[in-house]
Amino acid sequence: MDAKNARASRVELRSVRESDLDAFFAHDSDPRSAALAGVKPRTRAAFLEHWGRILADESITERAILADGELAGRVTCFEVGGEKTVGYWIAREQWGRGIATRALALLLEEVADRPLFAQVRAENSASIRVLERAGFRAIATTDEAESERYTAGRIVRYRLD
Ligand SMILES: CC(C)(COP(=O)(O)OP(=O)(O)OC[C@H]1O[C@@H](n2cnc3c(N)ncnc32)[C@H](O)[C@@H]1OP(=O)(O)O)[C@@H](O)C(=O)NCCC(=O)NCCS
Repeated sequence: MDAKNARASRVELRSVRESDLDAFFAHDSDPRSAALAGVKPRTRAAFLEHWGRILADESITERAILADGELAGRVTCFEVGGEKTVGYWIAREQWGRGIATRALALLLEEVADRPLFAQVRAENSASIRVLERAGFRAIATTDEAESERYTAGRIVRYRLD
């Protein structure tokens, strides 16, 4: 992990703007990031279509993360099968600066719903650390087959009460 970076001194959330999408697309297209998250990167057209839906859906809390004033990634809360689920994605050059940890803490102040859920690859130790530090606890582990969006792998489900 690129933990050589200094800790960000200021982490803030704001609403996502259309002008953020080029950067988010670049973050998602990074092969190491996609492998860690266990997802298959979308084409640009599929990415823009996906984001068009997200930005029009008021049930989704989607926030851009600013680290020392710079766009560093995003954090989200969306519903899957009736369960409020959190997710986050940080630009690779910003990993190891404590950004996901603080962005998730800010999201948890904003989103009052409990329980909240998260799903993470068993090998994604950085994300597991972020979730556990926020108080999430592992509740189940499953082996998932490859799908259109995900590569095959072991998934751990987390819950925050
Ligand atoms: C997972 C991810 C969000 C972490 O973001 P980040 O801003 O680097 O996270 P933080 O710096 O807040 O915290 C990461 C923690 O994991 C630790 N960590 C990093 N790599 C690790 C590893 N291989 N093994 C164990 N711990 C690790 C870090 O040391 C840090 O803990 P510490 O503060 O106690 O030292 C980032 O790597 C990412 O965006 N990955 C691609 C997308 C993704 O995986 N999203 C999550 C899907 S569930």
